[in-house]
Amino acid sequence: MDIPVITVDGPTASGKGTVAQRVAEALQFHYLDSGSLYRLVALQSLEQGVEGEAAAELARLGATLDPRFVGGRVLLDGRDVTDAIRAEPVGVRASQIAVLAPLRAALLDLQKGFRRSPGLVADGRDMGTVVFPKAPLKIFLDASAEERAQRRYKQLKDKDLGVSLRALLESIRERDQRDRSRAVSPLKPADDAVVIDSSSLSIDGVFEQVWQLARSRGLTPDSKKTSKPHSRRRSKKT
Ligand code: CDP
Repeated sequence: MDIPVITVDGPTASGKGTVAQRVAEALQFHYLDSGSLYRLVALQSLEQGVEGEAAAELARLGATLDPRFVGGRVLLDGRDVTDAIRAEPVGVRASQIAVLAPLRAALLDLQKGFRRSPGLVADGRDMGTVVFPKAPLKIFLDASAEERAQRRYKQLKDKDLGVSLRALLESIRERDQRDRSRAVSPLKPADDAVVIDSSSLSIDGVFEQVWQLARSRGLTPDSKKTSKPHSRRRSKKT
């Protein structure tokens, strides 16, 4: 069983989610937004008053997490929490608890379980380094903190959530620092990852680069003829 995985890692607001979803859709692969799992645990911890770094309790929340991803919505125990997990305080809490090794370990099997035929595109921080270290294509999507703050600001402004650009830039820098400097699964490109700086690229531009890379590694339908190593994997597609 050799189900291909494409990993897309990178810092907050680098556009990795949008790109990963587009690639998954174009390939008709499954999609894992691993950050949503940390956000789900963060939401639960805020709601249940599990404060600070109660590692064992947070790991228990992670181990019993049973989310459903249906048509772009996220359900937790039947409740639609799609918007709730996107709130800024939940993101901040997610980044705080993501430093805890027991929680990360508790979420490992859940994440690996998303690898199903015909393939998976997984986005996060440690998809290429820890969760899917043998993935045939690893992307690390980066962009300057200023550019990412602008993008997030625009997103939130469109939703009419009152935030200031300065506060966002500060929060992004803090989160970067925490994600990159933590001892367990820090945010960094895998040794064999392709680093793409999206600061001056559109989503289409990034998608095109990722697609060409996927193609050159035999992961797209049209690379079937030219590439041998993975062509067998595509044979199930109709
Ligand atoms: O939207 P944003 O990129 O800020 O965050 P996310 O991808 O939804 O993930 C929320 C938080 O979970 C991040 O700030 C990371 O600290 C953490 N995370 C992680 O540690 N490992 C992952 N594979 C995914 C997310």
